[in-house]
Amino acid sequence: MGKSIVILGSQWGDEGKGKMVDLLTEKAQAVVRFQGGHNAGHTLVINGQKTVLHLIPSGILHEGVQCFIGQGVVVSPKALLEEINSLAKQGVEAAQRLKISPAATLVLPYHVALDKANEARKGRQAIGTTGRGIGPAYEDKVARRSLRVCDLIDLNTFKERCEHILQYHNAVLKHYYEAEPVTLNMVLEDIMPARETLLSMMSDIRVDLQTLRQNGANIIFEGAQGALLDIDHGTYPYVTSSNTTAGGVATGSGFGPLYLDEVVGVTKAYCTRVGGGPFPTELLDEVGQFLGKKGQEFGATTGRARRCGWFDVCVMRRSVEVNSLSSLAITKLDVLDELDELKICTHYKLKGDKISHPPVTHEEYSACEPVYEVMPGWKSSTLGITQEADLPENARRYLARLEALVGVPIALISTGAEREHTIELKKILNEGANTKVA
Ligand code: GDP
Ligand code: IMO
Ligand code: MG
Repeated sequence: MGKSIVILGSQWGDEGKGKMVDLLTEKAQAVVRFQGGHNAGHTLVINGQKTVLHLIPSGILHEGVQCFIGQGVVVSPKALLEEINSLAKQGVEAAQRLKISPAATLVLPYHVALDKANEARKGRQAIGTTGRGIGPAYEDKVARRSLRVCDLIDLNTFKERCEHILQYHNAVLKHYYEAEPVTLNMVLEDIMPARETLLSMMSDIRVDLQTLRQNGANIIFEGAQGALLDIDHGTYPYVTSSNTTAGGVATGSGFGPLYLDEVVGVTKAYCTRVGGGPFPTELLDEVGQFLGKKGQEFGATTGRARRCGWFDVCVMRRSVEVNSLSSLAITKLDVLDELDELKICTHYKLKGDKISHPPVTHEEYSACEPVYEVMPGWKSSTLGITQEADLPENARRYLARLEALVGVPIALISTGAEREHTIELKKILNEGANTKVA
């Protein structure tokens, strides 16, 4: 019997999900994206060669592995085609191994225009979105006016519906945002080069995933963003517009929750966030700058500098509970190598009270002060270590303390960006049955 596992971000994104998914795909037959869109940037480093994936699941570099994009994902036809073409240049034939739900929502040029206009209008209150049109695309989905992948089949109907949608959005763009309108031609320029490819990949992935499961395949569900960016459980409104947490797997792929065997929370040994919103452990001093530089903390999608701070157990408590995390994959341990001491935020202080979980409103969250425990650093290199026994003692102590405070066992420790730079404490996947769907 194969296993179906979820690998997702447990903080504010960029935890190293791409690396972990790529690594575990060695034993998997299928990898599935279930939410988000090309706002994601998942980095894989193999023999020094870096690949950044935005929409295509991070299993694609493993030959023969099937990749799926579920209906919970918002798909930009242009971004997807660009990614397929850039993989082809690397000798990776993605299109034949990629299937897309016909019910996935399309991200089109008017979504990008709305996203940018809305952010510009907000000024200092801006969310700091990736500007990829993700929020407006999900708005259209919930408003039941989306154009979906299946709408690419009949072009005449597509154009008719698109004209209607444009009337609505252009009224908002012109009269509310005082921005340039979007034309039908601009939409067609986006979709036409990608249309045939998209249509050839359409498949009822709910059925495909059940077939794989019943045949004993190992399936990985790859989260994008992180738990605290979840539309329902994150630091609203400074969040993305999808359910990034484990519940999103069932709705976003059509794979029922009882079929899942494990939920792995990918967790940086410290913490980062991109864009606006509360971040109590943020370091605005030279330690924060050090983490940013050593950790190369620049967005894989937008290139923006990531905000850096200490490990936050309150964030992890929320993440553990909301996702039912069964194990942790701790990443970027090596980034902490040179520090004299490390801080771990165990609680917050809010108006004189000691609290253990993030509060609901961003105003309250912004008023939280971190309460820290301090641990000594290890002041030696952990880069590339593959055996737990080779870790410096203070590094092992730090990890043991994180594990005890979070209350979830650590299965994997990442000590560098390369696939091999990993300590495996627990085997998450055994060999799965080598099975394929047509
Ligand atoms: P994702 O969005 O969660 O897939 O993460 P990103 O790819 O956006 O950001 C993680 C960054 O850290 C990437 O540049 C990775 O190559 C890099 N990375 C992952 N694990 C490690 C690690 O253990 N050590 C170091 N130094 N870099 C890592
Ligand atoms: P991966 O999958 C980090 C953040 C943006 C912004 C907020 C809303 O690489 O971890 P959006 O464009 O989604 O409407 O922006 O969410 N954000 C991410 N932060 N990693 C990501 O993806 C992110 N995707 C979106 O910076 O604060
Ligand atoms: Mg990323």
